[in-house]
Amino acid sequence: MSEIDVDRPNPARIYDYLLGGSHSFAVDRRFAEEMVRVDPIVRPAARANREFLRRAVRAVQGLGIRQFLDLGAGLPTMGNVHEIAQREDPGARVLYVDNDPVAVAHSRNIIEREHISHVSAEQADARDVDAVLDLARRDLDLSQPVAVLMVALLHFVPDDDHPVDLVERYRDAVVPGSALALTHVTRDGQGEHVTEVYEAYRSRATSRLVDRSRDQVAELLAGWEPLDPGISWAPSWRPDGPAGPFAGEPSASGIYAAVGVRPA
Ligand SMILES: C[S@@+](CC[C@H](N)C(=O)[O-])C[C@H]1O[C@@H](n2cnc3c(N)ncnc32)[C@H](O)[C@@H]1O
Repeated sequence: MSEIDVDRPNPARIYDYLLGGSHSFAVDRRFAEEMVRVDPIVRPAARANREFLRRAVRAVQGLGIRQFLDLGAGLPTMGNVHEIAQREDPGARVLYVDNDPVAVAHSRNIIEREHISHVSAEQADARDVDAVLDLARRDLDLSQPVAVLMVALLHFVPDDDHPVDLVERYRDAVVPGSALALTHVTRDGQGEHVTEVYEAYRSRATSRLVDRSRDQVAELLAGWEPLDPGISWAPSWRPDGPAGPFAGEPSASGIYAAVGVRPA
């Protein structure tokens, strides 16, 4: 496993802290609190992202999908993919992939401690598609549909790493009927103050944060047929509970969400 960087705030641990998890270091917590002071929407937006993940997992299960390739899976906190999926389908398979060693170690710990079947966690860079697909071939059955989850991942993939091609390579590796679920931060409709958040990530965190417009998110989804309601603000993608802090103003989340299916 690669070195753990405890001197710089790390996205997996910042997000875990924002969700109320307990796997962060002081440097992550200080950074997260600073971001919350700059933009108080950061915390409810993290929750809205996580809630979308739950609804997306349920939606693709409704299509008959029983396997999940969770890229940028993050730290195991509330509402992990295997918990959601296996509640409905105890045989559901999940491969968690993250490039953060802390996230992977905690996931493995839970899997072993709780004797969870059909679930594995691997450290890999989602941009190294060949390596990830080797793992997926080992742990999943790529002759059957797979849900590829890129939830809050692609905004950590800069343009230089060609995120459109990246998504396309995963699409080509899965059979028709497979699905892609993604969320992505945007500055569309956001105030100028969010610049400070992006700048803080760029200058201090282990990964910078890259916002993309709705059109750019649509490019990422090329070749996937979006399920209704298409690209939406995360809180508005098939909501199934009280509207919460984004009632009437889902754009304030600053997060686009979509689920697409690979057509035949
Ligand atoms: C904000 S968290 C999202 C966690 C989870 N997907 C969710 O939405 O609830 C983003 C995760 O992506 C991971 N990540 C960032 N860049 C990555 C890459 N190139 N390969 C694999 N994981 C990556 C981070 O370590 C972090 O755990």
